[in-house]
Amino acid sequence: MINRRQFVQLILTLAILPKQLLQAKGFLSPNSFHVPPLELGKRLGKDVFFDLDIRSGMSMILPNKATPTLGINQNFLGVTLLANKGDRVHIKVKNNIHKTATLHWHGMKLPAKADGGPHQSISPKHTWLSEFDIIQDAATLWYHSHQMHETGSQVYHGLAGMFIISDDESKKLNLPDEYGVDDFPVIIQDKQFNRNGSFAYLSSMMDSMRGMKGNTILVNGVINPVLKAKKSLVRLRLLNGSNARTYQLSFNDNRAFSIIASDGGLLEKPVKANTIRLAAAERVEILVDVSDGAYPILRHTAIQESSGMGMMGMMRGMGNNDKNMNIFQIDASSALKSASSIPQILSKHDNPQQSEVTRQRKLVLQMQMGPRMMFGGDAFSINGKTMDINRIDEVVKAGSTEIWHLENASMMPHPLHIHNVQFKIIARKGGIKGHELGFKDVVLVHPQERVSVIMKFPEFRDAKTPYMYHCHILEHEDRGMMGQFVVV
Ligand code: C2O
Ligand code: CU
Ligand code: CU
Repeated sequence: MINRRQFVQLILTLAILPKQLLQAKGFLSPNSFHVPPLELGKRLGKDVFFDLDIRSGMSMILPNKATPTLGINQNFLGVTLLANKGDRVHIKVKNNIHKTATLHWHGMKLPAKADGGPHQSISPKHTWLSEFDIIQDAATLWYHSHQMHETGSQVYHGLAGMFIISDDESKKLNLPDEYGVDDFPVIIQDKQFNRNGSFAYLSSMMDSMRGMKGNTILVNGVINPVLKAKKSLVRLRLLNGSNARTYQLSFNDNRAFSIIASDGGLLEKPVKANTIRLAAAERVEILVDVSDGAYPILRHTAIQESSGMGMMGMMRGMGNNDKNMNIFQIDASSALKSASSIPQILSKHDNPQQSEVTRQRKLVLQMQMGPRMMFGGDAFSINGKTMDINRIDEVVKAGSTEIWHLENASMMPHPLHIHNVQFKIIARKGGIKGHELGFKDVVLVHPQERVSVIMKFPEFRDAKTPYMYHCHILEHEDRGMMGQFVVV
């Protein structure tokens, strides 16, 4: 017979045993890495037809509680879309949830009507058809809801997925490119949970001011998963799909990796690094050599926001303190020697030329402190204006080259995103390095900083349908830090 104390002891031992075992082996969690299903569509020559449905469901994210989630062709998050440069895609999106939603193809050069922004809302039970030619090079893009005032909530609950573009040039490079074998989507998101297992979205004033951050990291919808590497050279397509958080990524053993692509596609040559900063909506592709058979953990190192001014001090006091967090782990113990390699030349960029610039513009990012900030409402603005869906802010000439100066007059960093273009950063404090050397569609602008970008606008004309530019902290976007431009 055992007494009550021994009994309690036994239960406790049983409960903690698996965790101890895992820790002994050095694994982050018992969760295995989930690769979202690849969707190739139905192909008829160069025409590719995709059928997507926006749906809701219950997902097992926590060990013993179900979470209500949103997804595309599955319960949580979207399937991975793949198309080639030169294809014409026809994407049918059916909205099967009870709220109006959209799907926006982030990073894509395309006609404004096909963009999937706030002007292409899909009412419940309705269908929207987006058709466009893929005119850009191989890249890791993504797609997500862009519903006015609802983007933050809908993306947080799962309306986001990866959109990979491939092309002939990149296929010749001998890079790892077997999806789910040596080429992996890595959608990084931080979530906060309620006791009952549901996502906690905007439960404090701070959440809506700083943007929604959470204490739990998911990769492709799974908490701290372990990826069993099959090959010794692994390509990771990292997407910061978080609502607000900026990550400072590195491996726990500080191993070096090669950055091969930015938001808009391959860099001209690989850049060696052992850390990378990735703001909301940014993507980067890296090659990691795991031929040592080790168990490296990709982690986030706390970022100390620089501005020492009053408001930031106050925000810090109210829980802005960032902390180190584990993201996911690679188990390379059974990885086989890879046949792929790291080429020295990846691509040749057709850079927008300063001599062709016909127009310069300035976007000043602002936050209005005071009651409006504290109690909700549109407290975030660009050039002093909050988003108005009936107002066109800028008119751009099709095919022209412009420089935009992005100025942050507020006290926190904002990742600014521009639709329909891939730009080059030409000036920023501290210089331009790593993935910022490549084509970009989002750039983090620090407090009191000015970042200048140059871009050539594609030849799609539509005087009536605007594209957006906005902060990709989704709560800032939803609260007014967004503007509209047309291309004519
Ligand atoms: Cu990622 Cu306007 O969007
Ligand atoms: Cu976008
Ligand atoms: Cu912002």
